Amino acid sequence: MIRRILEYPDPVLRRIADPITEVTPALEALVGDMFRTMHKNLGVGLAAPQVGESVRLAVIELPLNENDPQAGVRYVFVNPKLGVLGQRRDITEGCLSLPGFRAEVNRAESAAVTFTNLQGELEHLEATGLLAQAIQHELDHLDGVLFFDHLESLDDLEQIPPDGLDWVLSEADELV
Ligand code: NI
Repeated sequence: MIRRILEYPDPVLRRIADPITEVTPALEALVGDMFRTMHKNLGVGLAAPQVGESVRLAVIELPLNENDPQAGVRYVFVNPKLGVLGQRRDITEGCLSLPGFRAEVNRAESAAVTFTNLQGELEHLEATGLLAQAIQHELDHLDGVLFFDHLESLDDLEQIPPDGLDWVLSEADELV
């Protein structure tokens, strides 16, 4: 099922999401819905609160890129926790819950994350580049944080131009 994506200022987006106690068939169905919803909206990541489920679950799938072995892989993060972060730099980012806008956000270029997988096992992942950026963005969602909260001023938000679809397709990376 394709879900409706909640948009700012929906209050669900500001909640601290609840930990998941068990991987159930209902949770797996939600994961399927989230991938379908993300693909339909040309996103590369989606957090459960964005579809109205205030639980600590996020999915990421980067567009295929022969230079990036982390691209094209479906990542599912249950109860994720960030570990060591790398050097920080500003990088362009947008969010399906704030359509039409993007901004330069300060993110670590690498990030370690520990999470539970759909088999209920604990996993550890070292991510770099776009995957690391998407992980930081999605984990923020689980704590009610939106990408523009990292800006000094909302004036730093930039409207995506009318040819924005081309931008989305060529830089799909930034819609999370
Ligand atoms: Ni987002």
